[in-house]
Amino acid sequence: MIDILNLDKSFSGQKILSGITLNIAEGEKVLFLGHNGAGKTTLIRCLLGEYRPNRGKVTVNGHPVIGERVAALRQIAFVPQLPPPIRFTLNELFEYAAKIGHCSIDKIKENSLYFGLDAEAHKHKAFYKLSGGMKQKILISIAFSRNADVMIFDEPTANLDAVGRDCFRKLIGAPEMRGKTIVFISHRLEELSSIVTRVVELDLGEVVRDERV
Ligand SMILES: Nc1ncnc2c1ncn2[C@@H]1O[C@H](COP(=O)(O)OP(=O)(O)O)[C@@H](O)[C@H]1O
Ligand SMILES: [Mg+2]
Repeated sequence: MIDILNLDKSFSGQKILSGITLNIAEGEKVLFLGHNGAGKTTLIRCLLGEYRPNRGKVTVNGHPVIGERVAALRQIAFVPQLPPPIRFTLNELFEYAAKIGHCSIDKIKENSLYFGLDAEAHKHKAFYKLSGGMKQKILISIAFSRNADVMIFDEPTANLDAVGRDCFRKLIGAPEMRGKTIVFISHRLEELSSIVTRVVELDLGEVVRDERV
């Protein structure tokens, strides 16, 4: 499903990822671990075709993410580590997300409420003016409302309160998630231990551990 082959990525001559080769099969739940700065987010950005690697390539269902990005990413829902500074109001964002992601606005609102966030009460507020945790809850709510085959979460619970972390764990563990391919970056191994089927650890841009659990 996701094939990463011989991937190198450098910034300003400094090698950040080195010879990464990983095949992620349909239905796997992969947790990426590693110190701050190990290269986890960079790898995800390469996987999404946002960074162009210096060597190697990534394909999703056979589509190269550089070159056939739309086809490669069609079935992927992604929640970034740092929410982008979106100027849309929540209403506008939901409309946009529902159109692009083929999901219902009601479902997004329902998910937000589940996270304890009343989107209706903030509907005229610009997304970038929400708190860090609120932004994360909104982006996660959008991701879960899409019927994506692949879900990628970069430190999704880092900014969440206890309610939010609990809800995330329940959503990710729901029966309808079973067939999905899920990639997490998280430092909270214990939160995801019942779901994760594989642990990959990066250190200094290399895979130093790859275990089925
Ligand atoms: N756009 C960029 N430009 C320059 N350096 C970057 C960029 N993105 C990431 N890096 C560097 O790559 C290294 C790995 O960062 P990152 O992948 O974000 O680590 P993490 O494992 O914590 O997610 C860091 O040294 C970071 O400064
Ligand atoms: Mg990161």
